[in-house]
Amino acid sequence: ASRLHTSWAGHPTVFLERTDSTNNEAKRMAEAGASHGTLVVAENQEAGKGRRGRSWSSPEKSGIWMTLIMKPEFPPFQASMLTLVAAMAVAEGVRFVTGLEAGIKWPNDIVVNGKKICGILTEMSAEPDYINHVVVGIGINANIEEFPPDIREKATSLYLELGEKVSRAAVIAEVWKAFEAYYDKFLENADLSSLREEYEAHLLNRGKEVCVLDPKGEWQGIARGIDRIGRLLIQQTGGGDKDLRAVDSGEVSVRGV
Ligand code: BTN
Repeated sequence: ASRLHTSWAGHPTVFLERTDSTNNEAKRMAEAGASHGTLVVAENQEAGKGRRGRSWSSPEKSGIWMTLIMKPEFPPFQASMLTLVAAMAVAEGVRFVTGLEAGIKWPNDIVVNGKKICGILTEMSAEPDYINHVVVGIGINANIEEFPPDIREKATSLYLELGEKVSRAAVIAEVWKAFEAYYDKFLENADLSSLREEYEAHLLNRGKEVCVLDPKGEWQGIARGIDRIGRLLIQQTGGGDKDLRAVDSGEVSVRGV
């Protein structure tokens, strides 16, 4: 924790040799009274979790598996925007430490050379109008040397892209430093209006065809950017509808980078 240059994120930082999932650990700690800004970092996760109920492969001592506990004042509907704030922070931190071109695949995958190097899982405990806590879980494939065959095509690591090992402490420090700066901008309006341009500058989907699977079916369009609450703005192809449609990360699955 002494290597962090942050004012609140990561104070305190709890290092664990192993846990089931840093998100689960963070939720247990938040319920037991851990304060806003507490960061949980684990060397090994035995049951790392991905979005949509998927598992997250977390090989020992080579990745960065961490979760920030937040107890924010804003209402629950704004919490999903934290994943976009975190995505920007990871892209920034990774670029700062490694020089690699890290882009964002909406809403919150970080991609280097077409392959995923980081995933983010935000989970919340809330009442209808009050957040008990939010946990922002970040998994960065830092020094992973090899991936299982089934994900080799889609996943990569900083080590594989760079050809040398990275300092995980440096990446952690830069990610949370960037997170604090972006979070301050987010709090100005409690939305993404002051971050939108910068998010879009790193948005790999921009100008690309995306395929949306929502409860009403499947449709295609061109991603144009995000709105101020973090929804992806898509210009629908065919159908004659020239208007932009805003899609929410909770209700759709977007394919194509
Ligand atoms: C995804 O892309 O599906 C999200 C992956 C999130 C993985 C991280 S690793 C640290 C934290 N603990 C977890 O169990 N998951 C997140």
